[in-house]
Amino acid sequence: MLPESFLTQLRFSCDMENIASSYVNLKRAGRSKVGLCPFHLEKTPSFHVYEDTQSFYCFGCGAGGDVITFIMKIENLEYIEAVKFLAQRAGLPMPEDSGADDRTARQKARILEMNRETARFFHACLKSEAGKAGLSYLLGRGLTPATITRYGLGFAPDSWYALVNHLRSKGFRDEEMGLAALAVKGKKGYYDQFRNRVMFPIIDLRGNVIAFGGRVMDDSKPKYLNSSDTPVFKKSHNLFSLNFAKNATGNTPRRLILAEGYMDVVAMNQAGFPNAVATLGTALTAEQARLISRYADEVVIAYDADEAGQKATARASGLFSEVGLEARVLVITGAKDPDEYIKKYGAQRFKLLLDQSENVLENKLARLKNQYDLQTDDGKTRYLKAAVTTLAELHDTLERDIYAGRLSAETGVLKETILNRINLVNRQKYKARQKKEWREITSGRTLYQDTVNPDRAKHLKEALAEEGIIRFLMKNPDYQDYILTKISPEDFVTAFNQRVFRIILEKIKNNITPDLSNLVTDFSVEEMGRISGMLAKGQGLDTGRRELDDYIRVLLESKGNKDDHALQQMSAEEIMALYAAKKDS
Ligand code: GTP
Ligand code: MN
Repeated sequence: MLPESFLTQLRFSCDMENIASSYVNLKRAGRSKVGLCPFHLEKTPSFHVYEDTQSFYCFGCGAGGDVITFIMKIENLEYIEAVKFLAQRAGLPMPEDSGADDRTARQKARILEMNRETARFFHACLKSEAGKAGLSYLLGRGLTPATITRYGLGFAPDSWYALVNHLRSKGFRDEEMGLAALAVKGKKGYYDQFRNRVMFPIIDLRGNVIAFGGRVMDDSKPKYLNSSDTPVFKKSHNLFSLNFAKNATGNTPRRLILAEGYMDVVAMNQAGFPNAVATLGTALTAEQARLISRYADEVVIAYDADEAGQKATARASGLFSEVGLEARVLVITGAKDPDEYIKKYGAQRFKLLLDQSENVLENKLARLKNQYDLQTDDGKTRYLKAAVTTLAELHDTLERDIYAGRLSAETGVLKETILNRINLVNRQKYKARQKKEWREITSGRTLYQDTVNPDRAKHLKEALAEEGIIRFLMKNPDYQDYILTKISPEDFVTAFNQRVFRIILEKIKNNITPDLSNLVTDFSVEEMGRISGMLAKGQGLDTGRRELDDYIRVLLESKGNKDDHALQQMSAEEIMALYAAKKDS
């Protein structure tokens, strides 16, 4: 679709390493640069960027590809949008009539336009006669008119067709409303999704209205109705009020507050704490934790005081620790959530509460302590065991030392004893993990379902050989004829590798260099990751002719021996090598 000359220029202007380092902190490691993977949670870097192949690969989660794949994944864009994004960044004009304004991009723009119109409509309703109930509900909950305007809150009339009719009058089609999750298709056509609810527009960082949350005004169920995912909205990737909060974090440390509900965030905002965000009706996700870590150095978890809130706090703090963000916990007493607390005790007291928020570990230990009777030896022992397990999760030995000291003072048990126990727990955990990995390897099962190449685990030996051939061919396209005299695509055992092989051969035939950037349009983002992995895993091995012949031999041998079991065929050394490779990653 896009002219080859344009793509070449784009690749030339968008250096993989340069682009990746605006999202990831990269350090040199041998022939590549490494950093913490932005696509999964990890504490030790396994995300590699390769200058020579202009590609990236994460040995932890298998994400990989060229610079366009990277932008597709990290910015959540379609291929053509990612190209546009990069072109803009590089200051390259998009070629005319390139199909750049393709269907999906146009469709997204339409949905955003429709969402904006809808927010305007709901807001106008709130201020009209039809919205009286909504307005008095919000005012009754203590919101000021200024807050209502600031958040663009609105009201969805108690009607089946109010919004549908309004949007039709603005030229939108029913199907588009369905796609935007604003209308639902029934037997007699489309009707309003949100009815008789006060409405909270969800706004992204670019100021687009991407979704809505609607609350009933009484005790009926469901209390909140949130937009389902649409082409412009992914619940798990967005946060309510981040558009305001990101400019209100303050400096050193930049701080965000994470609450459970929209009302909490709005109330905090009104009380002078604009750095608050909330998830969109679901538990915190890893993506959201990472999003928060982009804008803050410290997060205060301000969940509800009830049991469910405490559980959610523990979960969230685990996610924050994995993205390396310091989390503190707000301990609310005398009210069920921040909104109620502020209403009851005022902003001043809430400020004090924020200042007293505990770090996650202190909070955990304090809650453990409440569970046991420290007056009895039995209670003390059980408290110690639980506390040791908690401290074992600390990575920082200095921190461990400090808390072990405190625990020692509290219980009268020697600090050395406590530290020894912590080490023991960690050793046991490590051993258990190794055992599990070993079992997985030797049983030929992998941890996860391989959706890209489902045959791979069953035919591991052949798959590895196929990947070696693909790697060799990508780096040495001029060997095509040589390879084809020995084997043909049909000799490939696993379906995915066979497809990759075929497509690469086709590229070479058409005089296109078979590198990653020329495969983007042929493969999905997941598949790109796999191909990128084949290249990355060969970085250490210098694949020469001899290795190539070995790979070919493996494939030819397996031809006469169809129902083999890959692992039974492998020698002990091969299994160990595989195991070591897996552990390194
Ligand atoms: P108020 O009760 O008005 O103070 O609302 P709140 O914002 O404090 O809500 P609550 O603490 O009950 O719930 C926290 C968040 O969970 C809400 O903001 C919603 O995003 C979500 N939520 C609550 N009830 C429902 C529900 O019935 N369905 C869905 N999908 N989400 C809900
Ligand atoms: Mn509430």
